[in-house]
Amino acid sequence: MAESRLKILIVASEAVPFVKEGGLADVAGALPAALSEIGHDVRLVLPLYYQIDPRRYKLKARKKRLSVPMGVIGTVEASVMEGKLPGTQTTVYFIENEYFFGRPGGLYSTADGDGYMDNDNRFTFFSRAAIELCRSLRFRPDCVHVNDWHTAAIPVFLNTAYKDDPVFSSTATLLTIHNMLHQGEFYEGLMDVLGVGWEHFNYLELERDGKTNLLKGGIYHSTLINTVSESYAVEIQTPKFGADLDGVLRDRAADLYGVLNGVDYENWNPETDSHISANYSIDNLAGKALCKADLQKVFGLPQRPDVPVIGLVTRLVKQKGIDILAEAIYGILELDVQVVLLGTGEVWAHFFFGDIPNLHKDKFGCYIGYSNTLAHKIEAGSDFFLMPSRFEPCGLNQMYSMRYGTLPIVRAIGGLNDTVENLSELDNTGTGFKFYDLTADALINTVKWAVYTYYNRKDLMECLIQRAMSKRFTWAAAARQYEGLYRRAIEKKNHEG
Ligand code: ADP
Ligand code: GLC
Repeated sequence: MAESRLKILIVASEAVPFVKEGGLADVAGALPAALSEIGHDVRLVLPLYYQIDPRRYKLKARKKRLSVPMGVIGTVEASVMEGKLPGTQTTVYFIENEYFFGRPGGLYSTADGDGYMDNDNRFTFFSRAAIELCRSLRFRPDCVHVNDWHTAAIPVFLNTAYKDDPVFSSTATLLTIHNMLHQGEFYEGLMDVLGVGWEHFNYLELERDGKTNLLKGGIYHSTLINTVSESYAVEIQTPKFGADLDGVLRDRAADLYGVLNGVDYENWNPETDSHISANYSIDNLAGKALCKADLQKVFGLPQRPDVPVIGLVTRLVKQKGIDILAEAIYGILELDVQVVLLGTGEVWAHFFFGDIPNLHKDKFGCYIGYSNTLAHKIEAGSDFFLMPSRFEPCGLNQMYSMRYGTLPIVRAIGGLNDTVENLSELDNTGTGFKFYDLTADALINTVKWAVYTYYNRKDLMECLIQRAMSKRFTWAAAARQYEGLYRRAIEKKNHEG
């Protein structure tokens, strides 16, 4: 018997091409399309941020407004706009509320990087609005797929305030954790805004250390949970990576899975990429040399074809190991290499890395800011791509790099460990270079190993590049795994009632 078509509601706080601050946007923009492709009825819900221009995406306003209960705050109104995920037939709903989402600056923080004071209310509102939207549409999802703390209140609401609502009588939930560091932990009084009853403010559900922790509530109340790589799913059950929620995660170990993200190969393909100065393929790498020359030019570095270029594109935050990089960078710059860095994040890092070109203008190029075009140029024009992450739930850039024949140098952690295979010189296998300890020495030594290989083992380099370029991490494969999880969640929900 053919398997049934599922009705899936995906709720996320960002998605490409509409708005993006990190990898979550890549996932939330690509997964719905891949699921629609295999025949499911998928709808995506996003906030209508100030940064999204409704005309650009031909969004249409829905007539019916939503009344969203916000506990002690009262009822807050939302308008809804509707459109399609560009290039697909997937419907996207945008929750509009000028007060919460109509502000310039970042999605979660001001331009200065300070988190908005009312993020608790903003995302409680958004989460509850997504539920009210289903009621208003009479859309009875088989599974609601929520992402990170921003939408983790949804499973809580469905198990409490909407427990007896017939619209959701057979709705399962899946919580995807993209990052354990951000948990949506706020003052205890948020319970009054959630309005689900203080009996849920306990050490198993929403309370952590006297505060209301939305991610914790989501972990407790979701039918199933997953993270974005198998290694990270195991790591977060340990105190080192569990960010104080490892105990709750261990309690739910039987329902916790790892599904590796895919890559949008339409966007990240050196054969068709319009951001880079020349296209190339696994069979003809001539264009990569041109991309390297172009990259060196853009970053004001000497155009030397023979020198290895090491690229970085990253949020400049502790998660990404930038403190270790800062310790190691001058050791790396002693080698005959060039390093290019694109990133934005913590202010100290802007100054620290932004200043290096003053001392090493022939070796270090830096752009502090966000630029998609530069990200593509770095992927294409570098020889190596460095990711010294402290923890990495999945990581996308190492996968992009491989497609561009740019060998990843990564810390063997989380998704980096699952996607990159270490070079074995003995049997000539592998797709990159890995290090284990989070120390400047380990980082420098591994960079030295890669640079040595570049200069002295051209035979190994060629094979590494060929293997890396033939690797594929497709969304089609990830979508099949998510489909499996939705079905399992639905079965569990209907079995347990
Ligand atoms: P995370 O979501 O933790 O930042 P990922 O590796 O999953 O890490 O995704 C990061 C995404 O953001 C990638 O698509 C990367 O190219 C992009 N990115 C990060 N910083 C920048 C930047 N400064 N300019 C352009 N793109 C960036
Ligand atoms: C988070 C993680 C990153 C992951 C991304 C998408 O931002 O830090 O590792 O790739 O989510 O799942």
